[in-house]
Amino acid sequence: MTAVELGLPAVRGNPDTAGRPGTPLLVDRFGRIATDLRVSLTDRCNLRCTYCMPAEGLDWLPKPDLLTDAELARLLDVAVTRLGVTDVRFTGGEPLLRPGLDEVVVATAALRPRPRISMTTNGLTLARRAEGLAAAGLDRVNVSLDTLDPARFRTLTRRDRLDDVFAGLAAARAAGLAPVKVNTVLMRGVNEDEAVPLLRFCLEHGYQLRFIEQMPLDPQHGWDRDDMVTAEEILAALRTAFTLDPEPGGRGGAPAEKWLVDGGPAVVGVIASVTRPFCAACDRTRLTADGQVRNCLFSRTETDLRALLRGGASDEEVAAAWRGNSWAKAAGHGINDAGFDQPDRPMSAIGG
Ligand code: 5AD
Ligand code: SF4
Repeated sequence: MTAVELGLPAVRGNPDTAGRPGTPLLVDRFGRIATDLRVSLTDRCNLRCTYCMPAEGLDWLPKPDLLTDAELARLLDVAVTRLGVTDVRFTGGEPLLRPGLDEVVVATAALRPRPRISMTTNGLTLARRAEGLAAAGLDRVNVSLDTLDPARFRTLTRRDRLDDVFAGLAAARAAGLAPVKVNTVLMRGVNEDEAVPLLRFCLEHGYQLRFIEQMPLDPQHGWDRDDMVTAEEILAALRTAFTLDPEPGGRGGAPAEKWLVDGGPAVVGVIASVTRPFCAACDRTRLTADGQVRNCLFSRTETDLRALLRGGASDEEVAAAWRGNSWAKAAGHGINDAGFDQPDRPMSAIGG
């Protein structure tokens, strides 16, 4: 599906850049600078988490629409050398399903100044990939894990693969992809009773746990505020078993509020995207697997860099279009506003 078929107005070339200062960086009207690039490498996944995908999967992006490895490498080069991107995170769908991932990581690590390189994965095949990816230049991983119970994992992800995730986590740690972070979305009536066991598990294995409030990004458009387990509820649950003190130094601009567990040094993070939005400190820009730049998970517009690349644009023209996309970034995601409109593109085709 192209952006247009998805119902998204594709912004070609440069939107209004009136008032934009002459910096090469990805600045916006609110004084933020995007230095953290999330790259979705594929919209496909080998799990079917109920809150993310229907059992039969989604209408995958057609192959000709996907950026080739060469196009991707070129956009990464533009981002790092012309736009000031310092952090690159590979996401999906499931990024480990992208053929040539190791080579993409090698190309990214060869850029100067070398960006920090991380990946958000479901971990299924990480056990056999972690070492090679670390050698290629991957610095860190975040592994998504919502339950420790095999039967529940099967219900939640529609696959019987919990042991593979455990093996993937262990392999990531052994390969030095540290700190190994675990991402958990708690859902009412599904896994909300697992806050404490998940933290125990992560403390025991030396993983850093982060809870993420569920956001309205599901393809079914079934998100319901009342089903969302809030940061406050998560912290209350954790406090039944642990003492939590705010990590010295405060949240800064970081999405995760971090808490020292039982006096530290272990920490647990809570990402309260909905109840305590951190949009004012957002430093992100996003590239989809089909070459569209988005300035927010919740954008309703995209900038079609693939069309520019395939139309023969120069690196500087591509960079200018990307800058225009950032300049148009809204102040916030608006989830809590009356007129909130969920984006058409689901999470799996944007990248977490
Ligand atoms: N809200 C919050 N997090 C989500 N994820 C997927 N969908 C949502 C959502 N609607 C998480 C996954 C994974 C990461 C890519 O994003 O659980 O950890
Ligand atoms: Fe796959 Fe992640 Fe979606 Fe689960 S949440 S189906 S692991 S893309």
